[in-house]
Amino acid sequence: MAKKGRVFSGARPTGRQHLGNYLGAIKNYVKLQDDYECVYCIVDVHALTTVETTRDLIQNTYEMAVDWLAAGIRPGDSIVFVQSHVPQVMELHTYLSMVTPLGKLTDLPTFKEKVRDQPDNVNYGLLGYPVLMTADIVLYKSDVVPVGVDQAPHLEFARETVRSFNYRYNTKALIEPQMKNTEIPKVLGIDGVQKMGKSLNNHIELAATPEETRQRVMQMVTDPQRMKRTDPGNPDVCNVFSMHKVFSSAEEVQMINSECRTAGIGCVDCKKRFAENLNKHLEPFRARREEIASKPDTVWDVLHEGGKRARALADETMKEVREAMQLPA
Ligand code: TRP
Repeated sequence: MAKKGRVFSGARPTGRQHLGNYLGAIKNYVKLQDDYECVYCIVDVHALTTVETTRDLIQNTYEMAVDWLAAGIRPGDSIVFVQSHVPQVMELHTYLSMVTPLGKLTDLPTFKEKVRDQPDNVNYGLLGYPVLMTADIVLYKSDVVPVGVDQAPHLEFARETVRSFNYRYNTKALIEPQMKNTEIPKVLGIDGVQKMGKSLNNHIELAATPEETRQRVMQMVTDPQRMKRTDPGNPDVCNVFSMHKVFSSAEEVQMINSECRTAGIGCVDCKKRFAENLNKHLEPFRARREEIASKPDTVWDVLHEGGKRARALADETMKEVREAMQLPA
């Protein structure tokens, strides 16, 4: 079947993935493979811009790749690779930087946020982050980039940068990527308040054992107004209920929705049911994960093979780029 175009997405290597990563990105990556030619990149160079994500890069890259593959990313169809394995991206980043007004970078909300978060480490890479991200996307002539709202300014930046480059060098070498704003649910952590994240330790790992998963689920915060078992609850403000909507059957969701409001079901029972459904849902994932992780070399083989295919695409684009810029051959 003819594909609709090429999708590109990148994610920083954060190690074992959690439910937030799964519902927010991975699930969508898997699905996009049906309609698009997909290029999925573990952006280890971007990870170097912050100190925490610089540690354990190899292990974190490996663990994330295992989760991607176990979740259904198919390396035969898609290109799965590590950013630093394609050095051309650094070259393109430099060329793109020449058409990037400095003020545009300093104005980006993501940059300002980082300046606030890490005042002791406002490095040049942080400023150039969106330029490198643009290079990632255009190096592979990607048509579509699935991103959440937090990345929308970066994608707009990428589009403007492509236009500036093509105009400056009178070329059509670079393709302006479309943003695919997928319905990405904001997955809250077990605290029920903040976005699920490893750094907040409010996450549930996909690779956790059923027992560990159960324990995490039982720690989940429910409707804070519901103090006693006999109090009626409000599922509309309960994070456990939001999760039921994703992982439980329609009948069960309906039952919980009404029984919670009348105190027919308590939070403990509600969470037990969720843990059970989640574990059942993750069973095939865990089996595949175990099988993949029993042969770590094959994971690196996949990434190296992906790198090879990515470099071949990169070489073609860079040839056009250098010609357009009239760099000496
Ligand atoms: N900026 C993205 C993030 O912080 C990661 C990323 C790097 C990316 N390069 C990309 C995303 C290219 C989409 C396309 O999550």
